[in-house]
Amino acid sequence: MKTSITRLLAGLALAGGANALLAAGAPAAAEPLAPAQVRLQVSAEAAGPVIEPTVYGHFAEHLGTGIYGGLWVGTGSTIPHTRGWRNDVIQALKRIGVPVVRWPGGCFADDYDWRDGIGPRSQRPVRLNKFWGMVPEPNEVGTHEFMDLVEQLGAEAYLAGNMGSMTPRALSQWLEYMTSDSRSSLAEERRRNGRDKPWKVKYLGIGNESWGCGGHMRPEYQADLHRQYVTWLHTPVVRVASGDGEGRDEVIDTLMARAGQDMDAITLHYYTVPGPSWEHKGSALGFTPEYWARALRGAMGIEARIEATRRIMDRHDPAGRVALYVDEWGTWHDPEPGSTPGFLQQQNSLRDALVAALTFNVFHRHTTRVKMANVAQMVNVLQALVLTDGPRMLLTPTYHAFDLYQPFKGATPLKLQLQTPRWGEIGKESGQDLPAVDASVARATDGRVWLALVNLDPQRPARVTANLAGPAEGRLLTAAAMDAHNSFSQPHALEPSRFEAPAASGGMVLELPPKSIVVVRVGEPG
Ligand code: AHR
Repeated sequence: MKTSITRLLAGLALAGGANALLAAGAPAAAEPLAPAQVRLQVSAEAAGPVIEPTVYGHFAEHLGTGIYGGLWVGTGSTIPHTRGWRNDVIQALKRIGVPVVRWPGGCFADDYDWRDGIGPRSQRPVRLNKFWGMVPEPNEVGTHEFMDLVEQLGAEAYLAGNMGSMTPRALSQWLEYMTSDSRSSLAEERRRNGRDKPWKVKYLGIGNESWGCGGHMRPEYQADLHRQYVTWLHTPVVRVASGDGEGRDEVIDTLMARAGQDMDAITLHYYTVPGPSWEHKGSALGFTPEYWARALRGAMGIEARIEATRRIMDRHDPAGRVALYVDEWGTWHDPEPGSTPGFLQQQNSLRDALVAALTFNVFHRHTTRVKMANVAQMVNVLQALVLTDGPRMLLTPTYHAFDLYQPFKGATPLKLQLQTPRWGEIGKESGQDLPAVDASVARATDGRVWLALVNLDPQRPARVTANLAGPAEGRLLTAAAMDAHNSFSQPHALEPSRFEAPAASGGMVLELPPKSIVVVRVGEPG
């Protein structure tokens, strides 16, 4: 985990040049800046296969308060819940539609024994959570509880199987326990534990970060193990191989060469760390424009990783059978001051929302391979969509980015050409080469065309002229401060507002405020 981030940062060639005068939230320049002039040419032709709804997927690990407190409050809690899962959080997540949840880790998964999480809750063993603070893991949430969570959310289950510290037999028995309709002892044990009907488990991860916390394996060894572990999976399931997270092409190359026939998907992990090192990742709030730029540059860097991975996959699998799952992505900042070490709690600002929007746009450009992605993580951990504090809950700017992009689920991306200047002084000073604007256009499942625009520049507005029939109607997410966020004292400080652009002869004109995301329904390309 640590090495992966350090190596990725090294690859980004980040430059210095902080602009100390312009701290987050500093007043904008007195004279309004002239807008950046951007031209967008959209074609009615599809740019690729549909945007799988599962690229808007989630990840919930036994880490900090990601599960306990954030999602699960237990059946004895005074916080309103349904069979232990808190109603406020579940309702908020249902509003944005959760297609898939990956669980129980992360690094936690390769130290997880599924047998610890079945049977009467009062009799389950307490283990130590070795990766995340050595805190006691009560195993109150296990297989039955997690499958109840995904049923409440209407999501698919993506189970991360333990290849690091358990046997192939244990993995195949877990799958049998969950999915068998037979009279086998494992299926009967599930029935005794309260679940008669088998569950549907669509996705199964074979290990996590095998290069690191999943066992420190060489890819050659991992490829052999992967083949061994999938041998006894006699239930139809999407077999997901742990791939790369350190920017090492040779890992994907070796796994595809040696085990490509025995997997249905391979993973990429990609974290956006604004700071220069693991020790100095940068704070979630109160950052300078340089750190704004570094974060957005880092987020856009996922495109180069996906392209490099896709090229390797194309060589080994020209038919495109094996999918690429970016099953961990998001921002990783310094922990919230005063929070428990190892809990990875961080605030979430407008900057995180732009990271999410830029990442979605990249996924839309790579639909031939990218069929799933899982934000790290769902609640209270890293780039969370929801933060909780006891009975209180708030929705983060990242939640609103997921909400704005809902029309893109299942939509068909359209070809586009974007002529945009690179952005302003801060971009130049900090050595970050960034476009002023990024865009994605797609035809939704109902046939309507949707346009997403991101103005990356924190100071300059943008005027986008597009060959699209108007009017445009949708929503905008922006704020005066780069680190605008929601807090428990002001939980609604940053929310989307209505955005419209009238129909005009000679093309639609959209006026984007600085540092903004706009998602609008538009007319046909002309
Ligand atoms: O999401 C936090 C951690 O990041 C995961 O447990 C691990 O897989 C990755 O390094």
